[in-house]
Amino acid sequence: MCGIVGYIGHRDAYPIIIKGLQRLEYRGYDSAGIALFDKDLKVYKKAGKVSDLENFVKDLKLEGSVGMGHTRWATHGAPSDRNSHPHSSGDRKLTIIHNGIIENYATIKETLLAKGHVFKSDTDTEVLIHFVEDIQKETGVDLREAVRIALNKVIGAYAIVIMSADEPDLVIAARKGSPMVIGVGQKEYFIASDATPIVEYTKNVIYLNDNEIAYIERDNLLIKNIDNTVQIPYIHELDLKLEMLEKGGYEHFMLKEIYEQPRSIRDCLRGRIYPQEGKVQLGGIKEYAEKLKNVDRIIIIACGTSWHAGLVGEYLIEEYARVPVEVEYASEFRYRNPIISERDLVIAISQSGETADTMAAIELAKEKGATIFGICNVVGASIPRTTHAGVYTHAGPEIGVASTKAFTAQVTVLTLLAFYIAQQRGMIAQSKLVEYLTELNEIPELVERALKSNDRIKEIAATFIKTNNCLFLGRGSSFPVALEGALKLKEISYIHAEGYPAAEMKHGPIALIDEAMPVIFIATKNSSYEKVISNIQEVKARKGRVIAIVSEGDVDVKEMADYVIEIPQTHEAFVPLVATIPLQLLSYHTAVMRGCNVDQPRNLAKSVTVE
Ligand code: F6R
Repeated sequence: MCGIVGYIGHRDAYPIIIKGLQRLEYRGYDSAGIALFDKDLKVYKKAGKVSDLENFVKDLKLEGSVGMGHTRWATHGAPSDRNSHPHSSGDRKLTIIHNGIIENYATIKETLLAKGHVFKSDTDTEVLIHFVEDIQKETGVDLREAVRIALNKVIGAYAIVIMSADEPDLVIAARKGSPMVIGVGQKEYFIASDATPIVEYTKNVIYLNDNEIAYIERDNLLIKNIDNTVQIPYIHELDLKLEMLEKGGYEHFMLKEIYEQPRSIRDCLRGRIYPQEGKVQLGGIKEYAEKLKNVDRIIIIACGTSWHAGLVGEYLIEEYARVPVEVEYASEFRYRNPIISERDLVIAISQSGETADTMAAIELAKEKGATIFGICNVVGASIPRTTHAGVYTHAGPEIGVASTKAFTAQVTVLTLLAFYIAQQRGMIAQSKLVEYLTELNEIPELVERALKSNDRIKEIAATFIKTNNCLFLGRGSSFPVALEGALKLKEISYIHAEGYPAAEMKHGPIALIDEAMPVIFIATKNSSYEKVISNIQEVKARKGRVIAIVSEGDVDVKEMADYVIEIPQTHEAFVPLVATIPLQLLSYHTAVMRGCNVDQPRNLAKSVTVE
């Protein structure tokens, strides 16, 4: 949520910042702004997308080799020019960009109002920069100390960058709970919410930790904790290629990412399965192999699409490893008083590795003594750095706001984990594992074949672009696939969609079915095939329109359904990986035909760093 970019060095800052904001636009896109030091501190901001900001400044000569930029996802204050970042102090000498929420801003604002401060926006961010100004004026300390004192007093989450008209060769950055990466160049530094704006300039990055403040000059970087102790930063080398951040000829990032799935699943499996030996190896958690033998219960915590992946994980882990699994919304879990013991394993799933609710749920489980594994996509993000161990999904950067390849990569990791735990606990025969892993190894190819139905799916999408409601039904591990299909459709096409276990339809949703209601079934040839056929008949009896995802060569469902989409037959355990593909394409084409912005759906942001 909200993207931050900053630069100090010897190059022109504006092009670096604007390009960086375009890369980070997936984090929020309701307004954007920049600050540049060009003889004086100048601020330009505008409601709308980064392109609106670009148009706004296009006739200006923007110079300066120090600057920062922000793309916003509104929390406090509606999207508007005046609520856009950067925000300035009362005397206009300080300016700030911020990602996160200052929870005690109202109290601070009240005190500042009583002292005569006048605010120009409704944001918590403006309060923070006035607070810094006030501390400087009241105590006479320098800017560095004033920022430190202010950050000791604020409650909430932040990643901030501050510039001062009086100190043109200094940029101050700090974080607590919101991500911040510093790129280290030759007498230049780059600051960003993630590494994507930095990668073309340097591969050397420092991930700022919570409660750290970086004082950045062209040839000097000093990092201190907010208690003023100097920190020794660790420089990581980025494993990110520029072409991963581009559309590569596709119309949208979402479509590119859907088509990347054979590759991303293969990357996720690479070096982790040995089909001929019947062996799964997960380096990131190998130190916990013993612990897994005796684990009492697994609790999976996640949000949104990652939560759906967790539900698939529940089926697989219970089926193969025979460990009880509970799947929890992180946002609910963190506000309960959950019963957790040291014999529990908590698995946090997150594409971004930054989701605020998932982070808070991890902290809670940690306090209660559980072992925490992370399943994350973004390397070096907050969640993988806070968990005890974990497995990366290796899907590569996911830029479309609707999650696609990250979901199938999460399911792939959970599949591996189910077999890994089963293997540790002696729950699976070696010969069976050889069979399963051989089939799993072929999934990238089956996904490739499933993608071949694209044209057919496009034709089907055209038949229901005017619909207002839609139902997705599946049984067993296809139920979470139905949930995911419904989420995809609603988030990018704004069609109301519900996912249900197919048998639950009779207990309520059946009342919705009429000629206008498309019902999408996952009806592959697996253990619940016959039962799903009965459910299809129930829908047809009420004149519902049935679209079915079926196994190649199916005849029975074909006779009943209005439309079928064939996918290659695979073992039940792997159906979610293949059946998800047509649902992603269906949402994509429907949204495109409805004229929606599929990569940046309204009101959403990729990385939800506020609760
Ligand atoms: C939906 C989607 C969201 C995310 C959710 C969790 O397409 O992308 O529902 O899955 O916000 O995000 P992560 O996985 O980054 O924790």
